Amino acid sequence: MTDNADQIAYWNAASGHKWAEDAEKLDAMMAEMAAVAIAAASPRAGESVVDIGCGAGATAVALANAVGPEGRVLGVDVSAPMLEVARARGAGRGPLSFVEADAATAHFAAASADLVFSKFGVMFFVDPEAAFRNIRKVVKPGGRLAFICWRTLKENPFATLPMGAALKHLPPQPSPDPNAPGPFAFADPVRVGHILTAAGFQTPAFAHFDSTMTVGRTPAAAAKEAVLVGMASRLLANEPQAMKDQVIAELTEIYERHVTPAGVTVPAACWVVTASA
Ligand SMILES: C[S@@+](CC[C@H](N)C(=O)[O-])C[C@H]1O[C@@H](n2cnc3c(N)ncnc32)[C@H](O)[C@@H]1O
Repeated sequence: MTDNADQIAYWNAASGHKWAEDAEKLDAMMAEMAAVAIAAASPRAGESVVDIGCGAGATAVALANAVGPEGRVLGVDVSAPMLEVARARGAGRGPLSFVEADAATAHFAAASADLVFSKFGVMFFVDPEAAFRNIRKVVKPGGRLAFICWRTLKENPFATLPMGAALKHLPPQPSPDPNAPGPFAFADPVRVGHILTAAGFQTPAFAHFDSTMTVGRTPAAAAKEAVLVGMASRLLANEPQAMKDQVIAELTEIYERHVTPAGVTVPAACWVVTASA
């Protein structure tokens, strides 16, 4: 068992399988975020890149396309089901490989990467400073770090709407620790700045990226999805189906107010973080 054992178990259980099954859909939902993060990382032909928490591999494939045949991309993730999808997507691409490993403790080849990249894959470490110290070792002197992560929960209705619907049905929950491993753990730029500089990176830059997420084609489809994947699904994981059905019904009504021609679309707020090694 490592310190990150809970997260490793989570990403290999039902949730990891769901992310793997829905890879195309989730990639489409967050395509803007992927494009913005890759643009900030600015991968160049011939570079060596590590994609942390690469999941089902879409950004690793995009990075491999950017660095070309002379470059190299290594996708790192703890989720076996998501890596299975990533490997299938990357099959036959020479410079692209994947490893199942905890990025906090993985033995990376020292000073071998020009760029460390992540799309929503670095907020799950129990000890982020130690994890980034390990990640820092793989970066060449003068190399770069670029990742995208979520801003605060309250700035992200894609999460608060389903969570609010779920919480109405649950006994009062303890106030969550905003820094606990999870999607919103890197919302505070002061904290993240300290983590990165303590781990050996230069002072990072934080750029706001205000986007939207289309969480489903119809309110009912979006509400069903919310109890299967994401923060509300975590809250409801051990609750009876009747409660989940109630949440789906109420969330469907809430989502009716967010219907656009593209589907159910809600605001999403991110940080794009860049730092030199
Ligand atoms: C929100 S998903 C993002 C996946 C992918 N980057 C994307 O945008 O679709 C978070 C990813 O981080 C991975 N992850 C969590 N903890 C990790 C760790 N300690 N080391 C490597 N990957 C980790 C999970 O398995 C999961 O694939």
